[in-house]
Amino acid sequence: MKTEHAPTIHRADYRPLPWTVERIDLHFNLDPTATVVTSRLNCVRNPEVEAGPLRLWGDTLECLLLTVDGAEPAAAALRELEDGLEVDLAGERAVVEIHTRIDPQANTTLSGLYLSNGGFFTQCEAEGFRRITYFPDRPDVMARYTVTLEADRERCPVLLSNGNLLEQGELPGGRHYARWEDPFPKPSYLFALVAARLVVLERKAQTASGREVLLQVWVEEGNLDRAGHAMDSLIHSMRWDERTFGLELDLDRFMIVAVADFNMGAMENKGLNIFNTKYVLAKPDTATDVDYEHIESVVAHEYFHNWTGNRVTCRDWFQLTLKEGLTVFRDQQFSADMLAEAAGEEDAASARAVKRIDDVRVLRAAQFPEDAGPMAHPIRPDSYQEINNFYTATVYEKGAEVIRMLHTLLGTEGFRNGMDLYFSYHDGKAVTCDDFVDAMAEANGRDLDQFMRWYAQAGTPRLGARGEWNAADGSYTLRLTQHTPPTPGQAEKLPLVIPVAVGLIAPDGSDLPLQLEGESQPGASTRVLELKTAEQRFRFVGLSAEPVPSLLRGFSAPVLLELEEDDERLAFRMAKDSDPCNRWDAAQRYAERVILALAADLGQGRAAAVPEAFIRAFRSLATDEALDPAFRAQAAALPAEGYLLERMSPADPAALRAALRLLYATLGERLAADWLALCERLPVAGEYRYHPADAGRRALLNLALRYLAAAGNEAGLALARQRFGAAGNMTDRFGALAALVQSASPAREDALAAFHARYKDDALVLDKWFSLQAGAWRWQDDAPGTLLRVKALLDDAAFSLSNPNKVYSLLGTFFRANPAEFHAADGSGHVFWADMVIALDARNPQVAARMARALENWRRYTPALQASIRPQLERVLATKGLSPDVSEVIGKALQD
Ligand code: TRP
Ligand code: ZN
Repeated sequence: MKTEHAPTIHRADYRPLPWTVERIDLHFNLDPTATVVTSRLNCVRNPEVEAGPLRLWGDTLECLLLTVDGAEPAAAALRELEDGLEVDLAGERAVVEIHTRIDPQANTTLSGLYLSNGGFFTQCEAEGFRRITYFPDRPDVMARYTVTLEADRERCPVLLSNGNLLEQGELPGGRHYARWEDPFPKPSYLFALVAARLVVLERKAQTASGREVLLQVWVEEGNLDRAGHAMDSLIHSMRWDERTFGLELDLDRFMIVAVADFNMGAMENKGLNIFNTKYVLAKPDTATDVDYEHIESVVAHEYFHNWTGNRVTCRDWFQLTLKEGLTVFRDQQFSADMLAEAAGEEDAASARAVKRIDDVRVLRAAQFPEDAGPMAHPIRPDSYQEINNFYTATVYEKGAEVIRMLHTLLGTEGFRNGMDLYFSYHDGKAVTCDDFVDAMAEANGRDLDQFMRWYAQAGTPRLGARGEWNAADGSYTLRLTQHTPPTPGQAEKLPLVIPVAVGLIAPDGSDLPLQLEGESQPGASTRVLELKTAEQRFRFVGLSAEPVPSLLRGFSAPVLLELEEDDERLAFRMAKDSDPCNRWDAAQRYAERVILALAADLGQGRAAAVPEAFIRAFRSLATDEALDPAFRAQAAALPAEGYLLERMSPADPAALRAALRLLYATLGERLAADWLALCERLPVAGEYRYHPADAGRRALLNLALRYLAAAGNEAGLALARQRFGAAGNMTDRFGALAALVQSASPAREDALAAFHARYKDDALVLDKWFSLQAGAWRWQDDAPGTLLRVKALLDDAAFSLSNPNKVYSLLGTFFRANPAEFHAADGSGHVFWADMVIALDARNPQVAARMARALENWRRYTPALQASIRPQLERVLATKGLSPDVSEVIGKALQD
């Protein structure tokens, strides 16, 4: 058992184990309350390590039997530890057999073997395998698995595990069995089994080298009509990895299984990916364009792990970004390519930018705050108490940015060469981030030592920029600086290698060809400068007029750009910057400036109004018919509230919300005619298809409705009601509903009721219904607070604290996406938060810890809010039996 205050584990303490496992033969006698697991381990001494015992980890297991080479070990040769066992073995090889009993039904953590809708499922990453049987449960122990499943035929007609099916058959007593073998050695975290009542969608496909493979998507009965998009996404992913990296599926069979109770998005178990239903099931009537997009990218992510994660895995959990950062980068590139392909040559650049903007939004809204708070850590952390707390935006999203910078610095071909070398050296091994970067360096003849600091330093670097125009000689000197603020345990930071993509814009809006001092002639109009020291100057020559700099094009590094630009210059770049990401970014910066100024005024009780110049700039961008609708939907969407709070000091959610309400209402009213015209022009004719061009139109139209509804525009509200009633797909229906809910219109209640009536038996659609209500703003000052609604919904028949999707939809949305209501001045939200974290922790520590993190940046809030939050943090920390997961989060939040 884990203890209440878990010890800290340090990266520097890594040691290889004296004994590893070459083969494992597992047998499961599946029973809801008493499953017996028999495990035969072929253990091998590691000759490179000093002699020592076999280390087995175990958690909540009942040990029935343990033998070494067929005999019970002497009492002194077997020692019980707090988190497992130690067994002395003699010689070079030994066969260890272990029988354990586990209770899947009592397992509410969704880690290890658990039940969902009557079926058996496993989740082993990161340390769930030790909740199934005693094992050296570390990723550097790679074994070959054979697995036999035995279960009730009625309850579990389908029996799946990793790899290939060897045989199956009947057993007495209404039971049956199946035997599976995975030909590839793998760490225990990639083990999986499924025994449940499921149906399958199958396709046969050929790999690039001509092998035939069987692709399967397993879902519950009644959901087959929602499995097609996941299957299409899988096939697209296979083709993309073959084309882009020359990587083929290495198995004869590849399975995806959907399960309703799952802590995260999905899991890349070898040949048997297990998915949250949310990232598999889609049909036009139940899934939005965004759902379709997410399914495509999660299917791709898990599929890509087969090489980046499974064939080459992590030596230890500190290296998590080795597989996650790289695989997120790969799925981002895949999605961008898919969008570009669908858009056609002419619109490909804009389509790619739309994806890039999405990714940057996530980074700024989730990762930047994390990097500025008590949980800040490098993409490769130096220590942790609970590894499950480190599946973070930093490891994933910032990790992907670090890989992207390598791609930028080395070029597409250089990056591919590095990948090829990485696989040629490390296929079948458990390695480190250094191994990856070393391969990149060697394949490209580059020194990447300084680049490695990105793996070691936490905190968002500040990139300062100042331009100096010299009219006399037509030169423009760009002075770039960098510094990274201190983070917990890391006061000093060293300069990083920062690729800064730069363009210089002429007064007419065109890009100038760039010629650096010392070069004989001008070159490309976007150049990547490498900033390597605290301060560096770059002198551009041969210019005829003072340029406007466009920096960090394509968001070429995960930094905060500090560049002084007046409103006029931002408006100029909003209108003219040839880089779509920077055009969007200029709009975001301008909006941020306006919102923070409004919030400052409103927070002080002063009158405030949206500047006319901003309205003009915003309008010309949102209504520019030369731009594709998907891009305009990005450009017209305001910065995320979570990101804005981070930019406010102190963070005052009430003032920010007041500013946002005013801005929404003003833009809704002043641009009403434009929004209504868009609503006339944008509707997509014909049957729904998931296509980026259609999705872009729907997104912009729904945003137009949202502005109109926020302004209380009668024509807009009528249109939203009409579109809600007549919608032929979920994107339109949900978009209209969201507009009604985010308005003062009483029509919202009827619409919510109608939506509920239509989808009352559909768990995934109800998640949207919960989330929409939890995220609702108050559009009239005397309206009841959202907390009352959230509390009432806890008692809804469809709600359950045991289902992570429900918790994330209702509580996650309220705590993370509705700061003004959560941080209501009376402190009721904070008390509720503590109640929920404590209640959740007793069932599912991983989910509880995610909710707990909603308050980690509490010191950034106003003194009154801090005074309300602190006692609740302390109350949670004082809870008896608190999990290490939550205790790490709260402990760090309270640390001085
Ligand atoms: N490896 C999974 C992914 O990124 C993440 C994951 C799925 C996970 N389930 C989990 C991590 C449970 C921790 C716990 O694709
Ligand atoms: Zn992953």
